[in-house]
Amino acid sequence: MLKGAFGRIALTIVLALICGFVLVESGLIPANADATPSWMETWMASTSLDATLGRVAPKERNPVSLTDQNLLDGVHLFAQNCAVCHGSAKGDKSASPIAKGLYQKPPQFATDGVEDDPEGDSFWKIKHGIRLTGMPSFGDSLKDREIWTLALFLKHMDKLPPSVQQTWLQVQNWPVTSLKQTGQK
Ligand code: HEC
Repeated sequence: MLKGAFGRIALTIVLALICGFVLVESGLIPANADATPSWMETWMASTSLDATLGRVAPKERNPVSLTDQNLLDGVHLFAQNCAVCHGSAKGDKSASPIAKGLYQKPPQFATDGVEDDPEGDSFWKIKHGIRLTGMPSFGDSLKDREIWTLALFLKHMDKLPPSVQQTWLQVQNWPVTSLKQTGQK
């Protein structure tokens, strides 16, 4: 009896694996980026990301202190590394062709910011990236301190002191121009 039940379970697993293999091989699983993700894909990706963050994202306070200079450094790092996908101070209106074409779409932070997110979560996402999305990992190209500086800027993006806000308003993300050309340091 038990043997029969195990046999049936094994057969079901084998059939499911074969079905999955045939689906992938036959090209029936969409590979295009110009589509809206299904609810199941969205649920799986966000649940897995939240669970990962709960387990591994740093819980300590941001070691980079809240000063005008650090926020300004954050604006510069953002302009150089992130604005092409996450937009300028104009938010959704500044979405670049790259941002518009990605699957998943990168949030335009001046419109859909992450000020509510713990800075440790943003640190982890920037350092490690988000798998199967266009969000790259910056662990190889930025130092931890620079990543925390970016997390600080993201946290305070909607309440920047006037001098920093002025620089942020000058960032032009598309077509990409260097900060020097836009009159910043
Ligand atoms: C090539 C495009 C691209 C670049 C460059 C990029 N990102 Fe992203 N980023 C994405 C995409 C796409 C997502 C959405 C992933 C998802 O839906 O899970 C994302 C998500 C994020 C999130 C999570 C947003 C949320 O709502 O939870 C943060 C934080 C983030 N990026 C920060 C940055 C920072 C900081 C930089 C620069 C150091 C950067 N990204 C550079 C594409 C990019």
